[in-house]
Amino acid sequence: MDPVKPHPRVEEAASSLVTGGAEATGARRDTLSITDNRTGKQYELPIEHGAIRANDLRQIRYGPDDFGLMSYDPAYTNTAACASRITYIDGDKGILEYRGYPIEELAERSTYLETAYLILHGELPTRAQLEEWIWHITHHTFIHESIKKFLDGFHYDAHPMGMLVSTVAALSTFYPDAKDIFNAQSRRKQTYRLIGKMPTLAAFAYRHSLGLPYAYPDNDLSYTGNFLSMLFKTTEAKFTPNPTLERALDLLFILHADHEQNCSTSAMRGVGSSHVDPYCATAAATAALYGPLHGGANEAVVRMLTEIGSVSKVPAFIKGIEKGESKLMGFGHRVYKNYDPRAKIIKQAAYQVFDVLGRNPLLDVALEIERIALSDEYFIKRKLYPNVDFYSGLIYQALSFPSAMFPVLFAIPRTAGWLAHWQEMLDDQEQKIARPRQLFLGPARRGYVPIEQRG
Ligand code: SDX
Repeated sequence: MDPVKPHPRVEEAASSLVTGGAEATGARRDTLSITDNRTGKQYELPIEHGAIRANDLRQIRYGPDDFGLMSYDPAYTNTAACASRITYIDGDKGILEYRGYPIEELAERSTYLETAYLILHGELPTRAQLEEWIWHITHHTFIHESIKKFLDGFHYDAHPMGMLVSTVAALSTFYPDAKDIFNAQSRRKQTYRLIGKMPTLAAFAYRHSLGLPYAYPDNDLSYTGNFLSMLFKTTEAKFTPNPTLERALDLLFILHADHEQNCSTSAMRGVGSSHVDPYCATAAATAALYGPLHGGANEAVVRMLTEIGSVSKVPAFIKGIEKGESKLMGFGHRVYKNYDPRAKIIKQAAYQVFDVLGRNPLLDVALEIERIALSDEYFIKRKLYPNVDFYSGLIYQALSFPSAMFPVLFAIPRTAGWLAHWQEMLDDQEQKIARPRQLFLGPARRGYVPIEQRG
């Protein structure tokens, strides 16, 4: 991968820094001077794109047998594991851009498949490129009939995310050509297959949970229209999606398409770095997204709002949060220390959906929580704002999805982001198999103790 061109904002920030030592001479030295007080030695480390290379710390040793200095960063709260050109987030300013395009403009003017093309290819498609892209994905929506046997093996009340993790991994057994991960043609085909088949696997899991026959893909419909058809088609010869709901779902898919190095994307990169096929890597990413702190939060938000039940009970609930009794699901973010720009857009979309389907009474509970939280010291001090999951579940519920399907509705669009990061990782010459170090704090070497001497 050629050296990553710094995002203008990184260069801008670096150049605006006041550098004491060089100020007099006018020359700015992009370096970090370190004195190791254990040895009195001094070191100068280069600063690139607002970071030092962790491996540059290894030269700092206190003796010939010392391994060298490492950085300790549980949960990687301040560690860049890769260089990327896909998604830019400014958490303090609430900015989100896919390949430089603001999420607000894409939400208003693009479609999910066009956005997926942008995220994967780096540029918006020409009309011809978009038509070809849509044609390929539309013609990869069918799944092998044997996959239905996997689905039929699950209990009726199996969580659809557990079914999705399993069936995505199972796809790897039907497409052994996917192992050829450095073959561009094979990679392209697996990308069509995964983006095309995720809605089918999701819809089939939903139909299984209701004991309904599977509704096969309808290639005459749009990406989200076809998904709604596979979910809700019953005895009619041809399903006609409600255009407002079709557009609302497409908008939600755009907003969920990527989000830089989140937990599930990091899983995709980490598992993919072993050079496993993209289906197994996507299954790992889907599993990470299932967690209630990540993609499972939208399901947890609706459960939380339902348990609160009414606006009058919100103040007591907030008090419980402040006592640490539970977390306010749908609030807070590792990166956003401002309002998640996606939450703002989803909140507006909710009103459009409710105009068609009727107002979700839980919206009033959510609005009251937001009103109180945004003026409450506990949340202000911790910079906790609504995130992408706070309002999305209300729309999904209004679209008559069961809450168990909410994380599945997150996984479908995020597949484009996972695949974009997967291929960026494989093409990055600096990347290799992910294998972090540790600080060993366990027992010193000791001899085996026979069981009769243990006590
Ligand atoms: C997504 O990474 C991404 O980009 C993810 C995502 C994406 O698109 O991929 O944006 C999607 O996962 C959104 C997040 C969905 N999760 C939730 O809504 C679950 C609730 N949120 C929290 O669990 C939490 O905010 C996280 C996990 C999202 C972020 O946690 P951090 O960054 O690790 O923050 P932290 O746990 O260190 O919290 C700092 C403080 C703590 O209080 P103190 O110990 O300092 O007293 O803030 C508190 C936390 O207790 N806190 C919360 C809170 N989130 C953090 N307190 C109450 N409610 C919350 N939601």
